[in-house]
Amino acid sequence: MLPSSGKKSFAVVGGSTGMVESTGAVTGAIAPTVAAVVSTPPMSATMMKETERIWTIHATALRFTFLIQPQHLDRPTVLVVDFGAQYAQLIARRVRELSVYSEIVPHRISADEVASRQPAAIVLSGGPKSVHVDGAPSLDPAIYELGIPVLGICYGAQLIAEQLGGVVGRGMQGEYGRAEMTREGPSLLLPDDAPEVHDVWMSHFDGVTEAPEGFSVTASTPGAPVAILEDDVRRIYGVQFHPEVVHSPHGMAVLARFLHERAGIPAEWAMSSVIDEQVEAIREQVEDDRVICGLSGGVDSSVAAALVHKAIGHQLTCIYVDTGLMRKGESEQVVETFRRNLGIELIHVDAADRFFGVLEGVTEPEAKRKAIGEQFIRVFEEYTGGLSEAKFLVQGTLYPDLIESGGIDGSAAVIKSHHNVGGLPEDMTLELIEPLRELFKDEVRKLGIELGLPDEMVWRQPFPGPGLGVRIIGEVTRERVALLQEADAIVREELRLAGLEREIWQSFAVLADIRSVGVMGDERTYGHPIIIRAVTSDDAMTADWARIPYDVLETMSQRIINEVSGINRVAYDITSKPPGTIEWE
Ligand code: XMP
Repeated sequence: MLPSSGKKSFAVVGGSTGMVESTGAVTGAIAPTVAAVVSTPPMSATMMKETERIWTIHATALRFTFLIQPQHLDRPTVLVVDFGAQYAQLIARRVRELSVYSEIVPHRISADEVASRQPAAIVLSGGPKSVHVDGAPSLDPAIYELGIPVLGICYGAQLIAEQLGGVVGRGMQGEYGRAEMTREGPSLLLPDDAPEVHDVWMSHFDGVTEAPEGFSVTASTPGAPVAILEDDVRRIYGVQFHPEVVHSPHGMAVLARFLHERAGIPAEWAMSSVIDEQVEAIREQVEDDRVICGLSGGVDSSVAAALVHKAIGHQLTCIYVDTGLMRKGESEQVVETFRRNLGIELIHVDAADRFFGVLEGVTEPEAKRKAIGEQFIRVFEEYTGGLSEAKFLVQGTLYPDLIESGGIDGSAAVIKSHHNVGGLPEDMTLELIEPLRELFKDEVRKLGIELGLPDEMVWRQPFPGPGLGVRIIGEVTRERVALLQEADAIVREELRLAGLEREIWQSFAVLADIRSVGVMGDERTYGHPIIIRAVTSDDAMTADWARIPYDVLETMSQRIINEVSGINRVAYDITSKPPGTIEWE
């Protein structure tokens, strides 16, 4: 097993040239047109900079009106209050895994706002601060008076104690990692089958030493005399440990008891209900108008398109801009899946010639990016004439995009659109349709499967906008791209056969602009090396080189040298990030 990681896909760059294929049904005002939407994320600051680098090339002002998706007040919702660090997202996902819809809200939320949202329960997340420091994040105490069940986790539990009259000890010994928790009395949170003494995962310095009046202490650990506190009259509970992590073996059962039993929320939220709700919402939003969606080949834009198509069928036109810099078979798969399998109207713009044209003689990495980005925009401008009829643009914004850009209050849509949407005419006003804005990446993948997208598309790794253009050191020519596509396909195929594909953030081949001497048969060779790059990561900000087993590397090396002509050496990149980057350019 390799160190595990999440996955993420990232921006797109495309372009078009003379040859435009379109499905028969797409005519007149829409075809030929080009638009691009990119999808995906969680976008970190560095990634945003990367994308910006591409998109700022085109200064075309974009004007959008934003339409926030209707909220579903009738759906029981748990609010997860964010006190910093990354805990809130994991908690929100765990709640959803228990079939209860959850949303993350900032800790500054007022009791009035909470009341107006009528949540079925509230979970206070952990956080990196001590309740004793100046400026430590707090909670509007009136929230405790609303009669809504509350569960505090770690920092959240300490805050409950602090705000309701208990005592949080200072300068305690702290506990990090595994700790043994002992039952101290009958508990309504701990599952009945959890042993008297069992492991929990801790990460705290301070700890509750005295529970507030009305609370009973039902468990303790050596470093936390109050590991669980419960007030079943007010339905307020706190746990010092982290039930959301896998290292707390009974953690999910604790969450389940809180949600389903103490708060009485049924386990009803499911992907199929997401599809039904979104289909209805999209129909209501779009009515009889026309919608466009730029496909990048990545997971998010693909799933968003499939969902919108399910809702409005032929009113949707997808545009796929083929730069010629995609991986082997990728463009064919997009066309095959969308046009043939899903019956979606798709304009496939084959722009390869034009891209190779502008890349001729360009070797410097930034100059390459710029050439690709500029070409993309130029092509856009040529084909945007007919877009005037369209009123909506589909975008694959995910929930973490909104949270990470600080936009759970609605401002993130603006940020993202500037990064991901380009080249549209200045006088066009498009409303956004963002059917995935409530979902996490793993949920989007599940949705994609339910909508009939193939596994390869749903599990696709992140791929840079400039495509193979930044994986070829030196000049990018059609021949060199074809060679790299072959080597890259072997790397990915062998990883898939070894069952390691989903554990790796990105894996690919790089074609280096150097030559070395070798010998094949009786012949002396003077060929190029392929460098294999495979990394594990959670967010692309940092990454580690993947510990691929030697025998898998050996098969890759042998196959690449035997099957890809002109390659006589294979090297494996064992650089982490930092100091390296994931890509070679
Ligand atoms: P680096 O190489 O900076 O990459 O460690 C971090 C993540 O960003 C992707 N990447 C790009 N994506 N346009 C993009 O859309 C780019 O120019 C670009 N450069 C890097 C890279 O694949 C990785 O996921």
